[in-house]
Amino acid sequence: MVNKIAVIGSGLMGSGIAYVSAWNGITVTMVDIKQEFIDKGMERLRTDVMTGIDKGKITMTQAEGLMSRLSATIDIEEAVKDADLVIEAIFENMEVKKEVFAKIDAAAPAHAILATNTSSLSIDELATATKRPDKFIGMHYFSPVPAMKLLELVIGDKTSAETIATAEAVGKTQGKTTVIAKNSPGFIVNRLLMPVMREAILMLERGEATKEEIDNAMLQVGKAPAGPFTLGDFVGLDIAYNAMSTLYREIGDCFKPPDTLKNLVESGAIGMKSKKGFYSYGADIVEPEAPKGADPNWIVERLNMPAVREAMILVDDDIANKEDIDMAMKLGASWPMGPFEMADKFGLDKIKEFLTKLESESGACYSVPKYLE
Ligand SMILES: NC(=O)c1ccc[n+]([C@@H]2O[C@H](COP(=O)([O-])OP(=O)(O)OC[C@H]3O[C@@H](n4cnc5c(N)ncnc54)[C@H](O)[C@@H]3O)[C@@H](O)[C@H]2O)c1
Repeated sequence: MVNKIAVIGSGLMGSGIAYVSAWNGITVTMVDIKQEFIDKGMERLRTDVMTGIDKGKITMTQAEGLMSRLSATIDIEEAVKDADLVIEAIFENMEVKKEVFAKIDAAAPAHAILATNTSSLSIDELATATKRPDKFIGMHYFSPVPAMKLLELVIGDKTSAETIATAEAVGKTQGKTTVIAKNSPGFIVNRLLMPVMREAILMLERGEATKEEIDNAMLQVGKAPAGPFTLGDFVGLDIAYNAMSTLYREIGDCFKPPDTLKNLVESGAIGMKSKKGFYSYGADIVEPEAPKGADPNWIVERLNMPAVREAMILVDDDIANKEDIDMAMKLGASWPMGPFEMADKFGLDKIKEFLTKLESESGACYSVPKYLE
């Protein structure tokens, strides 16, 4: 039973996790390294509360209740000493996270579960910084935490069934839908989002379609919430590049970031936040390239197929099940359908045919997964 959570890091994710916890009746202490960072985190949290009040989702009394369950400190030992669950959301750096987990492990009660919100680091390696790998788990929330319904639970080699059940219960209390993935690069959502973006950039580089044609096809025919270029600019090309580079390093060449992406990031064009990415958001108006006349249906099939294939590999490798993968992509990436729902609609035989042809033209990154054999 989790009554008290300590959230380590009061940044974008930490303050969001603190918010959904306190809003749902859990006592929370938020920790950061400096008072000014705590003040910023609390300010962000108050803004979320005010937004809730403005939208009529939270009453003044509920807001007061929420704030009364929240406290913040720069003393990590003090914050974790009576916590049932500690959720870490500090910078994405293995060494720093391990140092912090060693400290938490020494100060937290023996029954406490330790969780990390890492997007890309190995849960098993992080767990080695503690003496309780059975009580160690990944709790990967999505941004903005109050709005995004998905929580990926990332299971390490030694994570116990009890720890998984407790993390699931906490997620449910926080209003999240949980899915389970075994510790593996990119977990579910990033692992499947990256092939779509990569294929879109490669399609652009090959001159088969313009970025406007690709984005429009994915929006109108694919019913995606945004095309891959608009989405990349929105999320930040630096973030997309880092995520793709991690998968490239850990899985191999099929995730190699295309040169166009690398060059944009190196030139500082990282999307909306720098006013330039795939598109321009400043005063300078850039004329779109002349359309190539690519068939929108072909664009959507060609871009979705590698993600469907990757989803099948996750099942083949026993990393996640079909239902969780479909749910994760619908809630975490706002896909209108999960990859297995897409596969059913398209027909498994047709997918096999599509991939067989692609593999013969473009190589092993499009090989037919065991799932289809
Ligand atoms: N931003 C996202 O969309 C997103 C989504 C999912 C997961 N994540 C992961 O969540 C984590 C946090 O990301 P973020 O975007 O909230 O970062 P952020 O930079 O907004 O916040 C990190 C906070 O951690 C604090 N911090 C650093 N070292 C600390 C320490 N030793 N003790 C206590 N606090 C410390 C920093 O001062 C900062 O306030 C990262 O691991 C990231 O990969 C981020």
